[in-house]
Parts: sequence; C-alpha cells; structure tokens
Amino acid sequence: MALVTWDEKYSVGNGMIDKQHHSLVDLINQLHDAMKEGKSKEKVKPTLDALLKYTKEHFTYEEQRMQAANYPLFSEHKKQHEGFVAKVESFITDYNSGKAGLNFSIINFLKDWLLNHIAESDKKYRSYMQG
Ligand code: FEO
Repeated sequence: MALVTWDEKYSVGNGMIDKQHHSLVDLINQLHDAMKEGKSKEKVKPTLDALLKYTKEHFTYEEQRMQAANYPLFSEHKKQHEGFVAKVESFITDYNSGKAGLNFSIINFLKDWLLNHIAESDKKYRSYMQG
C-alpha cells in the first residue's frame, strides 16, 4: 500500500503545480516501497537522485511563478525550499558514503515536510497563481 495517496485536499488550485506535487508524492512512495522491499543501494540511488532533481525543478518552476505573480511571501517561501534541498542533499551525501541508510525516519521526514509545506505554505499562494 502506498505511503501517501494523492488527494484533492492537497490541491493548490494550479493544475501544473498539482501535477508536480503529485509526482513528488509518487517518488516518495517509490522510496518507501524500495525501503520495505530492502532494495540495494544501486536500485535506491536513482530514485533518490530523481527525487532531488525533480524537487529542484519543481521549486524553480514554483518560484518563477511566484515572482511573476509578485507574490509577497516569495522570499520566505524560497528559503523554505533552500532548506529542504540542503537537507536532502546532505542525506544523499551521507547515504552514498554509507553514513546513513534509508529508514522510516527519513521517509517520514520527506513525506511530512512535503505535505506540510503544501498545506501550510504552498496553499497561501493559491489566490495569486490559480490556473
Ligand atoms: Fe510546491 Fe513550495 O513547493
């Protein structure tokens, strides 16, 4: 069973951004499955790399849209993105070096951060970026 099931309650009112959030949820579910199945590092690494890459692409897109809409909370929102990317990069470095493993704690961190960020921060731009 998937760790997170996409639900309309996560919608921020923008079809492209909802689609990107949905893809991020899919990647977190893939990591969760990989962990449960005890997949090897070689099999997990591409999913971790894809999560980081897609997260960066999503944040860049969202930030461009926020700037284009003159969104007043842009700076603080961008800082949240930067903090998350730094944490994921740090985890991947530790994972690759063998200092950290994929476990429930890291999967839950990713899931909770993403869902809380969508619910508490992304939804605030709803009226600025509908479409
Ligand atoms: Fe959808 Fe601010 O990340």
